[in-house]
Amino acid sequence: MCGEPVRKKGSTEFMDPNHGEESSELLQAQAHIYKHIFNFANSMCLSSALQLGIPDIIHNHKQPITLPQLVTALQLPPTKTSHVHRLMRLLVHSNFFATTKIHVNQEEEEEEGYVLTPCSKLLLKDELITLAPFVQAMVHPGLFTPWQFLGDWFRSDEINAFETAHGVKMWEFGDQNPEFNNIFNKAMASDSQMMRLIVGDCKDIFGELHSLVDVGGGTGVIARIVLEAFPHIKCTVFDLPQVVASSPESENLNYVGGNMFQSIPSADAILFKCVLHNWSDEDCVKILKRCREAIPSKGGGKVIIIDMVINGEKDEHDIAETKLVFDILMMVLVTGRERNEKEWEKLFLEAGFSSYKITPIFGLRSVIEVFP
Ligand SMILES: C[S@@+](CC[C@H](N)C(=O)[O-])C[C@H]1O[C@@H](n2cnc3c(N)ncnc32)[C@H](O)[C@@H]1O
Repeated sequence: MCGEPVRKKGSTEFMDPNHGEESSELLQAQAHIYKHIFNFANSMCLSSALQLGIPDIIHNHKQPITLPQLVTALQLPPTKTSHVHRLMRLLVHSNFFATTKIHVNQEEEEEEGYVLTPCSKLLLKDELITLAPFVQAMVHPGLFTPWQFLGDWFRSDEINAFETAHGVKMWEFGDQNPEFNNIFNKAMASDSQMMRLIVGDCKDIFGELHSLVDVGGGTGVIARIVLEAFPHIKCTVFDLPQVVASSPESENLNYVGGNMFQSIPSADAILFKCVLHNWSDEDCVKILKRCREAIPSKGGGKVIIIDMVINGEKDEHDIAETKLVFDILMMVLVTGRERNEKEWEKLFLEAGFSSYKITPIFGLRSVIEVFP
């Protein structure tokens, strides 16, 4: 290929590959393509670091850990020393770990030691707030394989690439595979633990409620966090029967199995965290209509949605990209989408609600209150 003319995008002219400026643009383009095509290598290196327990080893070491110390703690053969270094070098580059200089002896000799960053602090296995289960679930073959079918799916009649890959919808797959169901529920529960970081700022949202139903509430993490902060609320977690089957009830917290398309238990407020983004507009309107029936029309009844709001240019680049990636994730796994404010508003009006308020206090997600 070297030396062959290259057609300029949107033009019939040919670029001369020997022309300095154009060549350097194309070489940069090659680096860009390779970076993106190998993005999966970042996911896999991160998940293998978790599989090896590297964040916990560094954390338990209580001071910067040198490469030989890390290799010893990992109990790997000495032949792997240089490979661990290469894994760590990429993960330092992507900010999952950092290095710092440490004195190793009296002669003031220095060595590098690895330390945690805020990202790896969020990946410690035994902490209450940890995203380690979320990372491991996303690279589980159940959720990872459908990505390989995205191109095929576009040409097929199946509803999403998950169905192309596995032959069934994701919720049915969970019903048939208890191991997958467990991994998925733990991933969502870990994502929900992040609510602890903001629940103290949610007095205006939850403070006045007497009862709350968390629809699609999974194992009940959000309900328990809300209850710890607002113990007077009577909480119900409503989810598919196989999800709530063995959940332990407690005072003010009960679990109900059912289908939100049929009916939703009544309460002052209905909560959805990361639920409506799983569903098409048509399905969301149906679900929201069930909510309208379940909450009081007057006196503070509302729907509380915790989900993403796509803000286009208003979001900083990394946040905007993460939201767009989640939008594709919804296309691959389910039938939903991430929505901008106008798209959310359309659903609320179609389902018979009159107003809404968006509070962007939950990182990537916002809290949206919807009123009858
Ligand atoms: C993405 S998970 C979100 C779980 C939880 N809200 C969280 O954020 O951790 C979506 C949840 O919706 C539940 N779900 C799916 N279809 C449902 C239905 N028809 N009725 C009730 N829940 C359903 C799933 O079982 C799952 O727990």
